[in-house]
Amino acid sequence: MSTAATHPSAYEAVASTGPNVRHFLFRRLHSLTGLVFGGYLVVHLLINASLVEGARHDGHPSVFQVQVDKIHSLPFLPVIETVFIYLPILFHTIYGIWVTLTGRPNVQNYPYGKNWFYVLQRASAVVLVFFMLFHVLGMKGVFGGDVGRALTFAPLAATQSTVNHFQSAWWVGYVVYPIGILASCYHLANGFWTAGITWGLTVSAHAQKRWGLACSGLFALTLVCGLLALVSTLRAKAGPLPADVVPELRGPGNIGDKGTPPAAPNAAGSQAR
Ligand code: HEM
Repeated sequence: MSTAATHPSAYEAVASTGPNVRHFLFRRLHSLTGLVFGGYLVVHLLINASLVEGARHDGHPSVFQVQVDKIHSLPFLPVIETVFIYLPILFHTIYGIWVTLTGRPNVQNYPYGKNWFYVLQRASAVVLVFFMLFHVLGMKGVFGGDVGRALTFAPLAATQSTVNHFQSAWWVGYVVYPIGILASCYHLANGFWTAGITWGLTVSAHAQKRWGLACSGLFALTLVCGLLALVSTLRAKAGPLPADVVPELRGPGNIGDKGTPPAAPNAAGSQAR
């Protein structure tokens, strides 16, 4: 019997020790959760791009409203959201912060393109922590005051409440979202590229180059979708929501407040959805 069969190599001995196995598994889980959330983000941005249609006033629901209705009619929606969205991104963010803090960028010594991508992956991650907190808490109606009220998403008036969200303050539509969308699309596309290496799928330089082209396409597609939604909602008219669909606010100072009901029905007298 060869010694290799009975005695693990020095490499195997080191790799199978507790901290290394944990580190290996955490890295894989970090990558997997990034991919799961990334898949969700692509669908999210594709649906948001349908906002280009704007709010309809002819009694028919907009394409965006139809998609939102489909999502909100899914059984066990809170369970689906928790398992496929909140838990993956929570783990990815917590471990990602540790990876960011312990990483050692070396662009000063080696200013290669790939090293800049590495730095930008971490810089975009930091932006995303704040952007996602603002986006989710704002949509859920956690912030107080007039801006907090306008930021709140109303599933039954999906298009109009999203228009109001983007126009709640000038800095929301012209600073926060352009930066947030750019950071999300870059982090997503470059993350998909590095995940090819993490999972051993793109080993050769040729494979990495081809996958790089596909990921550049993904970056362009998601960026166009995100910007389309942003520009369309900024060009649409902000307006009051029908009183019966205004969600309760959860922000400090106005918990349970349903906001001011609309002064008058909109021009066509129908629900702007
Ligand atoms: C839009 C939300 C996000 C998506 C879609 C996403 C997706 C991804 C993907 C697919 C990867 C590649 C994993 C790999 O190389 O195997 C990645 C890497 C990374 N993510 Fe995220 N992520 C998001 C948000 C965040 C946040 C909020 C943080 C918080 C700090 C973060 C930190 C990181 C870091 C540090 C890496 C690089 C890991 C490495 O090079 O080893 N990400 N992300």
